[in-house]
Amino acid sequence: MSNNIKNNQLYIGGVSAQDLAKTYQTPLYVMDEDKIRSQCQLFPKYFKSQEIQTETIYASKAFLSLAMCQLIQSEGLSLDVVSGGELYTAFHAGFPMDKVYFHGNNKSIDELKLALTYQVGTIVIDHPDEVLTLIKLIPENQKVNVMLRINPGIEAHTHEYIQTTHNDSKFGISIYDDKTMLCIKEIQQSKSLVFKGFHSHIGSQIFEEQSFIEHAQTVLKYIHNVYEKTGIIVQEMNLGGGFGAHYTDEDKPFDLRSFLPELLKNIQQTSKNLKIKAPKVLIEPGRSIVAEAGYTLYTIGGTKKTTSGKQYVFVDGSMADHMRTALYQAKYDAVIANRMNEEATSTYTVAGKACESGDIIIKNIKLPNPNINDILVVKTTGAYHYSMSSNYNRLTRPAVVLVKNGQSKLIVQRETYQDLIRNDLKLEG
Ligand code: LLP
Repeated sequence: MSNNIKNNQLYIGGVSAQDLAKTYQTPLYVMDEDKIRSQCQLFPKYFKSQEIQTETIYASKAFLSLAMCQLIQSEGLSLDVVSGGELYTAFHAGFPMDKVYFHGNNKSIDELKLALTYQVGTIVIDHPDEVLTLIKLIPENQKVNVMLRINPGIEAHTHEYIQTTHNDSKFGISIYDDKTMLCIKEIQQSKSLVFKGFHSHIGSQIFEEQSFIEHAQTVLKYIHNVYEKTGIIVQEMNLGGGFGAHYTDEDKPFDLRSFLPELLKNIQQTSKNLKIKAPKVLIEPGRSIVAEAGYTLYTIGGTKKTTSGKQYVFVDGSMADHMRTALYQAKYDAVIANRMNEEATSTYTVAGKACESGDIIIKNIKLPNPNINDILVVKTTGAYHYSMSSNYNRLTRPAVVLVKNGQSKLIVQRETYQDLIRNDLKLEG
C-alpha cells in the first residue's frame, strides 16, 4: 500500500498529508500515481483472451487533465471523451487521436467539426439525427469510424441518476425499436461512415457481476438478430464502464481480476451458442481507474454542537469541490491525517463552507475529537470530484497534486481570484 501511517501521520504515496497541506494549501486533491497506474495495468492483464480481441478505454469524464492524459497514454489505454473540452484537452496533451472515442448524446456541430479536424479514431453516434448531421459534415474523401450507441434496456442496481439504460434513458437508441435497424443500415450504406459496431453502457458504481454478464449477452443476441435481419456482421461491441469502487465498508466491489476473464469466457460461449464470431470487446472504465487513488485534504476551521446535540466539523472546502454527497447521497470515509492513532470517539457531520444547508461532505462519521487546523482527509475522491467541481459562491477550485515514492508534483494549479473574474466584463463607465 502506498498509503500508510508513520508517527501518528497519514502518508499518501509516501508523502505526509500534513506536509502536502502545508506545501499546497487546502482544499487539495491528491492523486496516488501508483494506484492509478496499477488500476490501468489490471485491464490489459486480465481483460484479454486467446480468442477475443479487447481494448480498454479510460472514461476521461471521471478525471481529466493534461497530465492524466499523458499517464493514460503511457499505460497504453485509449480515451473516451464526451465534449469538445475533453477532446481539446486530449489533443493538447498530445494524446494519439486515433485512440480517442468521442461520445455524447448531443454533440454540437462545432464539437463534431473539431473531432473531424483532429481525426479522432471513432465517433459514437447516439441517435438517428446524428447520422445525418455527421454525414453532412464529413469532407469528401474522409472516412470516419463510427459506433452506434444502443440501449439494451438493462436496469442496473445503482442510484437512479447514474443508471443509463432503463427504457426512458436519454442515451442511445433502443434495441427494441424497429427504427434502430434502419439506422444501422443507413450507417452501413454511407460512403463516409465505417460502421464498427455497438456501444452501450448500463450505469455507474455497479456491484453485481450479473448485470454486466446480462448486458453482454443481450448485446450479443442483438448482434445475432441484426445479422439475421440485415446480413450485417457487427465487428465490435463496446460495453462501457460502470465497475464499482470502494467508498465505505458498505461497498463491496467485485474483483476485476477474476471477473474480467469470466466476462470474456461468457462472451465466447454465448457467441458460440448463437453461432456468431465473438466480436472485439471494448470497455470504458472511469471510476474504477481513479476513484480510490484520490483523496481530498481539508483544514478544519472549527466545530459546533447544535442545541439538539448534533456535532458539526467545518472544513475549508464545500459541495463545490465535493458534489457527490449532495447530488447522490454518496457516503465517504475520512480520517484526521495528523492524529491517525487516536481513537474515533464521537460522531460528526462534516460540513463545507458554501452558503447552502445541503453542503454536507459526510453525514455521519466517527472521528477523534477534532481540533482547529487538523487536516481532514476524505478518501476515494479521485473520480467525479475535480471533474464535477464548480465555482459556486465564487470559491476557487482546488489544486491537484500527484504523489509517488515520497515525491509530489502539482498537475493542476489552484484557481485564483483573478481566474474567477477572467471572463467577466464590466458595464461601460
Ligand atoms: N462510458 C460511458 C459512455 C459513460 O457514460 C460512463 C459514465 C463511463 C463510460 C464510465 O463509467 P464509470 O466506469 O466511471 O462508472 N457523475 C457520476 C457518474 C456519472 C457516470 C457517467 N457515465 C458520479 O459521480 O457517480
